[in-house]
Amino acid sequence: MLVFGYYYLPLESTPHPAGKLGKVSKKGHTEVEVAKKSVLDFQKMKREGEKVVWLTCYDNPMAQLMEQVGIEMILVGDSMGMCVYGYSAGTLPVTMDQCIVHTEAVRRGAPGIFIMGDMPFLSYHTAPEDAVRNAGRFYKEAGVDSVKLEGGRRAVKMIRAIADSGMVVCGHIGLTPQSSGQFGGFKAQGRTAESAYELVLDARAVEEAGAAFLLLEAVPPEVGRFIAEELKIPVYGIGAGPYVDGQVLIVSDMLGIFQAFTPKFVKKYANLAQEMLKAFQDYQNDVKQSRFPDEKHCYRMIEGEHDKMMQLLS
Ligand code: KIV
Repeated sequence: MLVFGYYYLPLESTPHPAGKLGKVSKKGHTEVEVAKKSVLDFQKMKREGEKVVWLTCYDNPMAQLMEQVGIEMILVGDSMGMCVYGYSAGTLPVTMDQCIVHTEAVRRGAPGIFIMGDMPFLSYHTAPEDAVRNAGRFYKEAGVDSVKLEGGRRAVKMIRAIADSGMVVCGHIGLTPQSSGQFGGFKAQGRTAESAYELVLDARAVEEAGAAFLLLEAVPPEVGRFIAEELKIPVYGIGAGPYVDGQVLIVSDMLGIFQAFTPKFVKKYANLAQEMLKAFQDYQNDVKQSRFPDEKHCYRMIEGEHDKMMQLLS
């Protein structure tokens, strides 16, 4: 089932590939009908064994590109703490306001993609009321389709409160970066029978609390498979092996932009850092050697106006 929504895009925007281009409105905007996936589509995909393709995204131009290829889900992740803001404390300093600003920008770039807002540290831990208020901010201020929060059994009250308020929630268990200090760092989880057992209990609790999706991070494929097969809701993975219902990667990792470290589960589909370094270097050389700007980058004065200017100045 597809949900259709109307969005007003600037005239120069690329129309959504799955949408129909409508007539140009009087306001100089193009009305575009967009086919965006809903929770029902994601459930159907799970039933039919079709994998979901999910990426993180933090800005508008990148979101437009994802829309052009039909990426099915975007997480505006609190990984922005590392990928955009360069915080040495990782995701912990990220605020609701930062998340809202980035999510709004992504929403404008990808009106046809199912977008999830990532609830940052301390936006839901303090009380279910805070969780509902902050999840609601994502919906009201940034137009998300869902929110994600970290934690299994200990996040149950928050998940239930958000779901009971009519919002779509995704749980996140395994390596949960906001509490990675308790694991002694960014370490894979579920590698022993006991730890895998705890993860299964967490997964069941998240589903039971009313979550619509579950994200598993950095767990062995056997654990990913067991949980994906046991739960009725779609179970997606980042570093959770191939048997889950879909995959997410951090866009800065898969494009080869983020330099600080590369987790084992990342596949680099490009090395944009190299491309960018080359472009910066070439620009620097061109300016220093007066090769840029050249003729084609210059505005010309109107015929005869230069002589007049010189007369005025003489
Ligand atoms: O913030 C983030 O990018 C995440 C990833 C693990 C997907 O939560």
